[in-house]
Amino acid sequence: MLKIGSYELPSKIIMAPMAGCTDLPFRLIARSHGAKLCFFEMVDCNSITYGAKKRVRTILKTIEDDSPISAQLLGRDPSKMLEGAQEILKIAPNIAFLDINAACPAKKVIKKKAGAYLLKDETELYAIIKKISAHLPIPVTVKLRIGYDKNDPAKIAAIAHKCEASGASAIFVHGRTQAKGYSGPIDHASIKAIKDAVTIPVFGSGNIFSALQAKKMLDETGCDGILVARGALGNPWIFEEIEGYLAGGQTHTPPSWSSRKSVLKKHIIAIEKFKDHGPRGNVGHMRKAVYWYLKGLPLAAKTREKVSLVKSYDKMLQLVDDL
Ligand SMILES: Cc1cc2nc3c(=O)[nH]c(=O)nc-3n(C[C@H](O)[C@H](O)[C@H](O)COP(=O)(O)O)c2cc1C
Repeated sequence: MLKIGSYELPSKIIMAPMAGCTDLPFRLIARSHGAKLCFFEMVDCNSITYGAKKRVRTILKTIEDDSPISAQLLGRDPSKMLEGAQEILKIAPNIAFLDINAACPAKKVIKKKAGAYLLKDETELYAIIKKISAHLPIPVTVKLRIGYDKNDPAKIAAIAHKCEASGASAIFVHGRTQAKGYSGPIDHASIKAIKDAVTIPVFGSGNIFSALQAKKMLDETGCDGILVARGALGNPWIFEEIEGYLAGGQTHTPPSWSSRKSVLKKHIIAIEKFKDHGPRGNVGHMRKAVYWYLKGLPLAAKTREKVSLVKSYDKMLQLVDDL
């Protein structure tokens, strides 16, 4: 049984945290297609310490069916990070574990010396892990990239080892450097080096768009599990596809357009039900969802244009019906 600290995982396949994407509607749709363990969207520690608690509560909105779940915290100062972690636990007391983000490559995050910057500022990273893991009643994990600006398996393995020694109960690792952002190949050798350097579970992330790619990540790195990220956008079936393939080698037939459409409609209905960003804000979320499900389909560009003009929930549902 795969465990993070004392927490027994329901699956080795986890839905990755994705800011701006993995909200409650997204998670419910993913769960209805086999995602067993999900992440809330990342919480910025500054939102907590500078009083934007409404935003934090919005991110941490959940319901009974949306379980098990984990949270991720972004920040830099160990004491503020602990304060943030404790606030998250007050709002979402049932999270399975708390992850520390040392992977985000966004310019505005790096400027604040948080996210992937912590790979350059290792002492601060270890101090955060030590502080939070010493005070939190749940396991603390860390999400790394394989390096800051260059691939160096030995270096990232040493960092991972020190994260474990500081109290981390698992390591998630995006197999690209901060400098590479979200493009380019995944460095399986660096993920393998991390796996070989620690005794806690390691989860590989990067370019998991199919069951075959999931298996390749597991086989080539020896990692204990994987994170599915962009591969789930408009494609929630990926979770059952990977589970099925790993269990018995069954290959997957892509869903027909009518079943894609029916899931997309459920996604839109869930946005209307659970998001409270006002009619315009909610329609913005719906548009984004429709674009995900259209990606790669014939006439997607033409349809995108029509979608961009829709201004209400009813019209969005009607448009999807007519597609
Ligand atoms: C829109 C978007 C938002 C993301 N937000 C986060 C985040 O908040 N925290 C995090 O650790 N990773 C975040 N990621 C990274 C993913 O979790 C994942 O590690 C990365 O996309 C690589 O996997 P993929 O190539 O399979 O998409 C984000 C990725 C995307 C595309």
